Amino acid sequence: MARLDFTGRAVVVTGAGRGIGRAHARLLAERGASVVVCDLGGDTDGGHPSTAPAEEVVKEITEAGGIAVASTESVATEEGAAAIVGTAVGSFGRLDAVINNAGIFRPLPFTEVTPETYRRYLDVHCLGSLLVARAAWPHLVASGSGRIVNTVSGSMLGVPDMVHYGSAKGAVYGLTRNLAVAGDTVGVKVNAVAPGAGTRMVELTGDALPPGMLEYMMTSMPPELVAPVAAYLAHENCTVNGEVFNVAGGQVNRMVMVNTTGITDPGLTPETVAERIEEILSPDGALPADLMLPQPRS
Ligand SMILES: NC(=O)c1ccc[n+]([C@@H]2O[C@H](COP(=O)([O-])OP(=O)(O)OC[C@H]3O[C@@H](n4cnc5c(N)ncnc54)[C@H](O)[C@@H]3O)[C@@H](O)[C@H]2O)c1
Repeated sequence: MARLDFTGRAVVVTGAGRGIGRAHARLLAERGASVVVCDLGGDTDGGHPSTAPAEEVVKEITEAGGIAVASTESVATEEGAAAIVGTAVGSFGRLDAVINNAGIFRPLPFTEVTPETYRRYLDVHCLGSLLVARAAWPHLVASGSGRIVNTVSGSMLGVPDMVHYGSAKGAVYGLTRNLAVAGDTVGVKVNAVAPGAGTRMVELTGDALPPGMLEYMMTSMPPELVAPVAAYLAHENCTVNGEVFNVAGGQVNRMVMVNTTGITDPGLTPETVAERIEEILSPDGALPADLMLPQPRS
């Protein structure tokens, strides 16, 4: 297989000043991409912004012979997203792929999740991904093989103390699937990774991880083992659209939403549902839920 090369292509990686995003940015730059290293530089919950993390990663990339520029705007505002995309187009004259990776995290019991907290998580994870995608869209369409890689999380399936974070990631899942439909006819593919990597973020996970798991993640799940999947999904040779991949410690698998076979009963009553609930739940014969692509009109 020919090496997947990015020479001549421009990529935005958000949250690239640290952790998983830094690994994405470094791998893409190593393979020839011109990279916008976007990072607000705050703490895990988003406070205390700093330009240092993005600038440091740009320095690492350029010292290694790669091409990168920093953007220290927030993904969570329209002006920030426009500036991030503007940096790519202004510096490189094009934009071929966006990796929406920026994120904030702090576990909180549900009773302590205020509407303000909930909005902030939606703003960074979901609105942030939407705003950068929206600003990038015309350039991705012009690229002819535009790519968006979003970042979700296993927490969207339900874990302790992550109602705010997990549901914001669930919104990114819906965004990914629906943007994949929007991109289908214009050559833009949109997929997501659900990563697992030993970063400062997982050090806060607490009770959600089984005993010993945190230490294992910090030693055996480096961010560099997430980046190859993001790089494939950002490459023009990527063939998939609307998919989500669990990626951790060298393991990669597809995450799917399924429709079970269920039941059909024209005389459906609450009692039928109660009586046949095991049949409705059974995964036997379940099929992955496909994208509903627009149908050609006759
Ligand atoms: N580490 C894991 O195991 C794991 C698991 C599931 C999902 N994730 C997701 O992966 C992504 C990367 O996480 P990480 O573990 O590398 O964490 P990290 O904290 O090391 O990196 C996240 C980066 O995003 C930046 N950021 C935050 N808000 C921003 C904003 N508004 N605009 C621009 N940049 C912003 C931060 O400054 C930080 O550098 C996140 O979306 C996270 O939710 C991580």
